[in-house]
Amino acid sequence: MREDRHPVAIAAEALDVGYRARSGRAVAVLQGFDLTVPAGEFLTIIGPSGCGKSTFLRAVADLLPPLTGTLKVLGGAAADARLRREVAFVFQDSTLLPWRTVLANVELPHNVGRVAARNTGPTAAELLELMGLKGFEGRYPAQLSGGQRQRVAIARALVSEPRILLMDEPFGALDEITRDRLNDELLRIWRQTGCTILFVTHSIMEAAYLGQRVLVLAANPGRVHALHDLRPLKGADGAIGREDPRLVEVMGELRRDLERC
Ligand SMILES: Nc1ncnc2c1ncn2[C@@H]1O[C@H](COP(=O)(O)OP(=O)(O)OP(=O)(O)O)[C@@H](O)[C@H]1O
Ligand SMILES: [Mg+2]
Repeated sequence: MREDRHPVAIAAEALDVGYRARSGRAVAVLQGFDLTVPAGEFLTIIGPSGCGKSTFLRAVADLLPPLTGTLKVLGGAAADARLRREVAFVFQDSTLLPWRTVLANVELPHNVGRVAARNTGPTAAELLELMGLKGFEGRYPAQLSGGQRQRVAIARALVSEPRILLMDEPFGALDEITRDRLNDELLRIWRQTGCTILFVTHSIMEAAYLGQRVLVLAANPGRVHALHDLRPLKGADGAIGREDPRLVEVMGELRRDLERC
């Protein structure tokens, strides 16, 4: 959608992220975390429950300040990227406002804060069409299926034209066929917008199918266990067949990684 001014979307160096106990004592979930994500990359993140996947996304979204180390988002502080609305978040159970129609939910970020002034990108209606929801604009969230609701949430995240899209198990609650379909839609959007995507999943298939690179995190402390580069397997558009033997092989490697961390 927009040109990236920074060649690096996210740069973490010797980063500790965690939480403060009531006593004020800091408990680092991620320790000594190093990661560079080039602008425009589709990075998938997988790892055991509690290893710090959501914690990392929260730090990038500036919802959680790092304890120590450096975290740069689009070349600057995470807070600046957030204030410029360059980072958008889609959660597993994205909440839509039940009293607003589908269209009004997607338009919501345009009505809040500074983004209103910069409304030059695709309209809410265009994004709904892109997500296969043309004709659903006037419905209310309660009149949608789970998959349709998640698509509305993605359209809402895209309306502010984020450079970075953070997705935390966005399709975890969906059946496999819907998930496959949404995976393909997401790839299409990624190609069209050129945005950077960090996508957390528990599905080995999803991680391998979507990611240009797959980051495997280990737990206690949360740290990089492995980083698989799948770009050589996939076309320039990031595509690979779901049953491609090379993809199946990568899935085996990821499974073995996960058994060890
Ligand atoms: N608000 C919080 N205060 C204190 N500790 C927290 C808080 N949120 C998460 N934690 C702890 O941080 C660790 C990492 O949590 P996080 O949610 O990042 O894991 P995750 O990798 O996303 O796991 P899952 O796959 O289950 O979603 C866990 O041990 C968790 O208990
Ligand atoms: Mg999580």
